Amino acid sequence: MARPKNDDFLRALWREPTSRTPLWLMRQAGRYLPEYCETRKRAGSFLALCKTPSLACEVTLQPLARYDLDAAILFSDILTVPDAMGLGLYFAEGEGPRFERPLREEWAINDLAAPDPWDHLRYVMDAVAEIRRALDNSVPLIGFSGSPFTLACYMVEGGSSEDFRTVKTMLYSRPDLLHKILAVTAEAVTAYLNAQIESGVQAVQIFDTWGGTLSAAAYEEFSLAYTKRVIDGLMKTHEGERIPSIVFTKGGGQWLEKIAATGCDAVGLDWTTDLHEARRRVGARVALQGNLDPMALFAPPEAIAREATRLLDAFGPGGTGHVFNLGHGIHPLTPPESVAALVETVHGYRGPATGRQA
Ligand code: CP3
Repeated sequence: MARPKNDDFLRALWREPTSRTPLWLMRQAGRYLPEYCETRKRAGSFLALCKTPSLACEVTLQPLARYDLDAAILFSDILTVPDAMGLGLYFAEGEGPRFERPLREEWAINDLAAPDPWDHLRYVMDAVAEIRRALDNSVPLIGFSGSPFTLACYMVEGGSSEDFRTVKTMLYSRPDLLHKILAVTAEAVTAYLNAQIESGVQAVQIFDTWGGTLSAAAYEEFSLAYTKRVIDGLMKTHEGERIPSIVFTKGGGQWLEKIAATGCDAVGLDWTTDLHEARRRVGARVALQGNLDPMALFAPPEAIAREATRLLDAFGPGGTGHVFNLGHGIHPLTPPESVAALVETVHGYRGPATGRQA
């Protein structure tokens, strides 16, 4: 299959020379764009949007029509996997995601099985194929999944949580039950990501949004081990092209070397980790993705430019192996003009200048 015309994103993940630092933004298709809100209204709900391939394709392309981004990300949600496992996902207005049947009982955990992605998540595969056709090899398409641990948090809690009391109670009192959930979920995630690759995604990202809430020991045992299991099971090539993988662990900066050792091609960093220090720690073993604080986009354009330049300078010269991104998803109230200022700064960057204005 042909390489995209703009392959800087893939090249950066492989630590190959690029024409400029590539960038994309986590949640780049979302509520900060009025056109997204309009399409979602037409779809009737967020889930209907996810489950209708033509509309998922439409919103995937919206940020690319506005900004010169170097990758598209499949429009979907990490919680479609537990939904396909029978937990009954719904979104309560203003309250975020919820499951009708959270995983609490031992019998339900023993009954849990990995769904066939070609059957229960067919709408995602159809969206991937439609998006690839629409992109026409302009930029690469990123597929994604939640990490087994992050998915287990939602499955056991039954929705978002402030303190993860229910899942952590299980972790400390019945680790066997949590391991059982994680093993089945890792199998589900591996099959799901491989189906996305077979459908046409050109890179994959694993979102471990909640791994960083664990103790160091629990992180290794309940989060990292299962992320590694997924990476071990991923197809490494498809139709002659290598498929790179990115692991994003919010709050995972202190475990950078361990994440880099999972076999992933890139590590996503939130804004609390210094890019220069991170690069020193992992060398050229993996690429790094990140890490602008999403709140920086609420500042005026000059301040956004200054902060983005600081990060590019921090990554340092010989700038390959860096994919610019936010340190977490873009906030729904972000002014769209801020994203334009960011893209312009990153693409206009020409290496660290001596005596640059601080
Ligand atoms: O990056 C992209 O543009 C691709 C789309 C994408 C969405 N969710 C769309 C979405 C991706 C990659 C995700 C991942 C996701 N979903 C994560 C991991 C990344 C992260 O942010 O930490 C998590 C934890 C979820 C679960 C989830 N989905 C929550 C907690 C919520 C509600 C919170 C909120 O922002 O309202 C969602 C809903 C969701 N997923 C929206 C979007 C655009 C907003 C829904 C809407 O339009 O009302």
